[in-house]
Amino acid sequence: MPRLCRGICQPAERVWKMEPKRIVLDVDTGTDDAIALMTALLAPQLKVEAICTVHGNTTVENTTANTLKAAYAVGRTDVPVYPGAAGPMVKRLIPSRAIPVPEPILSGTAQIDGVTVAMNPDELPLPVSPQQAEDQPAAVWYLSRLRSAQKKATIVATGALTNLGLALAIDPGIADGIEEIVIMGGGVKKSNITASAEANFFKDPEAAAIVLGCGAPITLCTLDATHSCALTREHELKIRKIGTPAAVFTANDIHARRESYARLQPLERAGTAPIHDALCVAYLLDPSVLTQVEDACCTVDCSAGISEGRLQVDTRYFKGKCNLKLATQADPDRMCDILVSVFEKAKSAKERGKVQSAV
Ligand code: RIB
Ligand code: CA
Repeated sequence: MPRLCRGICQPAERVWKMEPKRIVLDVDTGTDDAIALMTALLAPQLKVEAICTVHGNTTVENTTANTLKAAYAVGRTDVPVYPGAAGPMVKRLIPSRAIPVPEPILSGTAQIDGVTVAMNPDELPLPVSPQQAEDQPAAVWYLSRLRSAQKKATIVATGALTNLGLALAIDPGIADGIEEIVIMGGGVKKSNITASAEANFFKDPEAAAIVLGCGAPITLCTLDATHSCALTREHELKIRKIGTPAAVFTANDIHARRESYARLQPLERAGTAPIHDALCVAYLLDPSVLTQVEDACCTVDCSAGISEGRLQVDTRYFKGKCNLKLATQADPDRMCDILVSVFEKAKSAKERGKVQSAV
């Protein structure tokens, strides 16, 4: 059977002749979201049509400003950014459903050349973009985009799923306008924000349940998958050597995460760190980066109890109709190679004068 490949592992000449895949990013930027979006904006195999922002890693005001900054860091001010939901669909109506403890496991800092680098700063340490966000809210934009006769959209969602949840609640028929949703969220044997749940699903369980049940094809990159492809010091050095703003930002984040994880949430492979959201973009560039994927029937716990926001996988023998592809393992070397390939190609395109912007 031929190896599935969407461009990155094909000969360079063929890559450039292929029509890029149009995608929409839905992000709570966030350092790992920033790496995902820089990679997507720099990859010639992808055309980012729009970026929606959402609450999550920080407030939506910050995630919107951070998104504009991350795009500007790779020289882009031309992709519309639609500001999204400031909070979950309904969760805040029940105060006991708030985050029970502070989030020490998702934060932390490290020293790089005497400079403190935070794993999850509210404001990314990047120049402010001259670009303004659009006036139209993300959920409203989704309705018009997905109802229209344009091409179906591939959506990469790496924050709380509130924007899509709202749009689908208004018009479930928009699922027909979706080619695929690639989601970073949930965990089977892993959790982070509570003992049961992963952060993106925990922050808006109802939205996550609506999206998982919407009927569109879904690939779910779980915490199990992102942790299994945590990057090493060697990966960090390989990426840092490229020297472009995107590569240096990525290497700094790997560094900060490696130190923070070692201190706060040690992983199986010591000294490594997951760059969760970048795995979704890596998958679009080369699906073989996901090494364990199975059809599954999943939803999300909205019962406001101890398992609030938990990914619920139906493991019964008499399975219901599978609603998604559940990814639980990924290849860290392949992930690093994908990032390196994108950053290096962007660098040499700039050097050859093929692009005018800073990369
Ligand atoms: O649980 C990891 C996820 O939560 C990532 O998407 C990170 O950016 C945060 O949103
Ligand atoms: Ca995220």
